[in-house]
Amino acid sequence: MYSRIVGTGSYLPERVLTNFDLEKCMDTSDAWIRERTGIERRHIAAPGESNTDMAERASRAALAAAGMQPADVDLIAVGTTTPDLVFPNAGTLLQERLGCRGAPAFSLEAACSGFIYALAIADKFVRAGDSRCALVVGSEILSRITDYSDRSTAILFGDGAGAVVLAPSSEPGILSTHLHADGSYQHLLYCTGGPARGAAPGPAPNGLPPMDYVRMHGSEVFRVAVTLLGRIVDETLAANHMDCSAIDWLVPHQANYRIIQASAKKLGLPLERVIVTIQEHGNTSTASVPLALDIGTRDGRIKRGDLLLLEALGGGVTWGSALLRY
Ligand code: COA
Repeated sequence: MYSRIVGTGSYLPERVLTNFDLEKCMDTSDAWIRERTGIERRHIAAPGESNTDMAERASRAALAAAGMQPADVDLIAVGTTTPDLVFPNAGTLLQERLGCRGAPAFSLEAACSGFIYALAIADKFVRAGDSRCALVVGSEILSRITDYSDRSTAILFGDGAGAVVLAPSSEPGILSTHLHADGSYQHLLYCTGGPARGAAPGPAPNGLPPMDYVRMHGSEVFRVAVTLLGRIVDETLAANHMDCSAIDWLVPHQANYRIIQASAKKLGLPLERVIVTIQEHGNTSTASVPLALDIGTRDGRIKRGDLLLLEALGGGVTWGSALLRY
């Protein structure tokens, strides 16, 4: 028994923040941002828009693509680091919106790898026969934890959501998933404001409780990302006794175009076989892999039967991959 992706969906908020908009409010330039990151614009959630709103839009699109109803969903796994509430968890809030009462629902924090972590867990439920329609979501409102006075991070992040529906299949399907974490790198990329710490410093965006912002040592994260993503690609291919020539599409975390280029080079894949969407939405953390998957599917690049390699690395650091037959 395998689990197989039977539908994808995504959502980007309406408001667009371009590099030219950022030029007007900080010491940066469109040319610098494009050259160093590949990003041209990002989407920003409206003040009244919530993480759950975005997750719901992406989920309904994925269910429609799968030809399934919300009532069919029997597992919800959400990756997010910007939930609306500490609890109930983001999966449960989404479940209430969709109206699939009773189905187990959870969210997990693995930063940009959150979707891959959630996918790996949901895959095991489906393979074990415990789920016939698993909704796996990555949804993130990073604009609410981004410090717009810090040009080294403000240019990178955006908001968005992506979702997939997993169903059982006798044909592959997800072939393998690989997850890792190394907390010794926590100082490189983090966001304080955890509730156990008590009231955190920093202004309250959009009337939310005080919270600190994302902090990052960009060039070190860059080096670690290139090394660890290169390693997990080798691990994934070796576990499946394949070499890179078998891969139709690399669907990487959209953090920085140069990191994507380095990953593709390590794999020996031409960039024509890499789904790159970063220019449209910047780094949307856990939403970026399902967003890229959905965009690549809907524009006709990714086809049924293609072999896809998904990979991501995020704060922690956490990193993960999935090899799947689409
Ligand atoms: N506009 C213009 N100049 C900027 C800038 C901006 N938005 N941000 C930083 N700079 C400047 C720096 O101040 C520095 O100036 P200096 O040389 O005078 O000190 C110079 O650009 C180089 O800074 P550096 O941080 O070394 O640049 P970089 O090439 O490493 O690019 C990042 C910065 C953030 C784009 C890059 O490090 C990166 O993408 N890292 C990985 C981030 C990531 O993927 N994070 C998420 C992982 S999930």
